[in-house]
Amino acid sequence: MILVTGASGKVGRSVAEQLTDHGEPIRVLSRTAMSEKFPDGVQVVQGDLTKPDGIKHAFDNVDRVFLFTPATGPGTVADTAYRCGVRKVVLLSSIVTQKADPKTNVIAARHHTAEQLVIDSGLSWTFLRPDTFAANALEWAQSIRVERVVRQPYGRSQRCPIHERDVAAVAVAALLEPGHESAAYWLTGPETITVIDQVRAISDAIGETITFEEIKRSAALAQMAKSMPESAAERLLDYAAKSIHNPPPVSDTVERIAGRPPLSFAQWARDHVQSFR
Ligand SMILES: NC(=O)c1ccc[n+]([C@@H]2O[C@H](COP(=O)([O-])OP(=O)(O)OC[C@H]3O[C@@H](n4cnc5c(N)ncnc54)[C@H](OP(=O)(O)O)[C@@H]3O)[C@@H](O)[C@H]2O)c1
Repeated sequence: MILVTGASGKVGRSVAEQLTDHGEPIRVLSRTAMSEKFPDGVQVVQGDLTKPDGIKHAFDNVDRVFLFTPATGPGTVADTAYRCGVRKVVLLSSIVTQKADPKTNVIAARHHTAEQLVIDSGLSWTFLRPDTFAANALEWAQSIRVERVVRQPYGRSQRCPIHERDVAAVAVAALLEPGHESAAYWLTGPETITVIDQVRAISDAIGETITFEEIKRSAALAQMAKSMPESAAERLLDYAAKSIHNPPPVSDTVERIAGRPPLSFAQWARDHVQSFR
């Protein structure tokens, strides 16, 4: 039995679907345990990853776990899982562990701690370190639906967004096949693409014109600082500015592990037209 955490989220949901397609018996953990959010026939258990003592029942007969790290931090769930008989974990981590200093970046610190706790737990592990999710474009969904516009700074900044289905495909390979133990996989989409071209791809997918309006850095900073520390927003904006002339590198990991090329941003947009119409 495989336990999938974060299974109502973007990556976890796809992990649950792909394991089910493989005919694997799975159980999902959710704080709300609303079974309609999950594939048919899946066992759903209620629990909170930040309260590991309360989720021991979720590990009954479970030998492998797809582990999501909550925004509040990883807690001691890996240790609990090991003590309950789990032997293998595939952890959804982040490229930020390779790019940023955990002393100054809270997201890097959270994922770095989660990785270390998994290593210390005694579990056999595989770390997934994806770069920017294609799904981050869902942040534009409201303004696209309402005004058919995207307002962002640095329209020519570049990223290599990864489809959640590709992160999940690597997770599924690591859960089902031998040979992924102690591997930390850097994952990206197949291409670098500018923000303007991402907007164009969504426009093509929904068959409607979407206007891109470049906003000033100061306006973006004021907006971003509502949901993150100003220093973190500054770093993200610096990274975007730098990427205009220094595109981020593309990884071949998805193709090597999943046996097919990663999905394009255009494909991601076609898969999510309902969010933008
Ligand atoms: N966005 C990016 O560009 C990016 C890049 C690299 C890595 N990442 C990492 O990827 C992760 C986000 O993945 P995602 O987008 O697939 O997640 P998501 O869509 O935000 O969903 C996460 C799911 O986890 C469950 N959850 C949250 N807190 C929980 C808790 N305390 N206990 C149990 N379940 C909990 C929730 O389900 P229930 O409501 O059903 O409990 C939620 O649906 C983060 O760790 C992020 O740092 C993101």
